[in-house]
Amino acid sequence: MLFMFCIETDKLTHVYFPGTPLETVALRDIDLAVNRGEFLALVGAAGSGKSTLVLHFNGLLLPTSGRVNVLGRDVTDPKHRKELWRRVGVVFQFPERQIFNATVFEDVAFGPRNMGLGEPAVAERVEEALETVGLPREAGRADPSTLSGGTRRRVAIAGVLAMRPEILILDEPGAGLEPGAKKDILNKIKQVQAGGGTTVILITHDLEDAATYADRVAVLRRGKLLRAGNLREVFSCVGLLEEAGLEPPRAVELARRLARAGVNLPELPLTLEEATRVVGRMLASARGKPGGGVLC
Ligand SMILES: Nc1ncnc2c1ncn2[C@@H]1O[C@H](COP(=O)(O)OP(=O)(O)OP(=O)(O)O)[C@@H](O)[C@H]1O
Ligand SMILES: [Mg+2]
Repeated sequence: MLFMFCIETDKLTHVYFPGTPLETVALRDIDLAVNRGEFLALVGAAGSGKSTLVLHFNGLLLPTSGRVNVLGRDVTDPKHRKELWRRVGVVFQFPERQIFNATVFEDVAFGPRNMGLGEPAVAERVEEALETVGLPREAGRADPSTLSGGTRRRVAIAGVLAMRPEILILDEPGAGLEPGAKKDILNKIKQVQAGGGTTVILITHDLEDAATYADRVAVLRRGKLLRAGNLREVFSCVGLLEEAGLEPPRAVELARRLARAGVNLPELPLTLEEATRVVGRMLASARGKPGGGVLC
């Protein structure tokens, strides 16, 4: 039987340097389930525990207490942990700093080669991964150090995609990029997830990105999971977002201001495009009602 969840944590607690003056409780009693194939946004202010949490999903960190089950098995099982590096791909923050090969091809090929694939299969995967992140085949010959920051970020993401991970985790993939480059990369990641088979966990403190790309969202605050649920359900609690130190998406803020002015929208818009549609429909139906129009 296939499990519905690909990740499940049960009272996951992580303490750095326990029993020393540097002791830090980074995660406390986290119960989180990630559905297979979904796009989950993991949000929270700086230091809330986002990176610490996902490092448990590929076995780089182990719980201080509690349990973490990934792809059907406990991460403390040493055999399982050994295979997690290729089944769970993590794109760390500023991954371009970890590019160390002489050409783009060599860099993207690093993971598939370590998986023991033959050269034709490696080449096929490199080509596919470069195409997914929007880079032409010829880019493979380039020296990564000569490329722009946005392009190097794509190369780093391609390196993880080339392993065809079942779970793809991205830690602030848009950080430091200009808005166009960030949008382009997130659109590509969305296509990978929407194509089926890949679960995506996107770490971000930008709720606009969560609203645009994710199916569900999990909110962390000081190492605790404040709420996990579908976007509309979680984003309707503006107080909760503020408690987590997060700015609500602009469309949610608009809905809040309209509500304060006595105008309640029929549904909560998540993006400005949705807000335009919702307000437009509301205005159209108000005009249709006798006496409800704003113009005679
Ligand atoms: N390697 C480490 N050693 C000791 N403490 C750490 C380590 N990594 C993180 N911490 C602490 O654990 C807590 C959670 O940090 P973490 O990096 O997981 O948060 P984050 O939500 O990813 O933050 P950011 O948005 O800044 O990346 C913080 O108090 C941080 O100082
Ligand atoms: Mg982090």
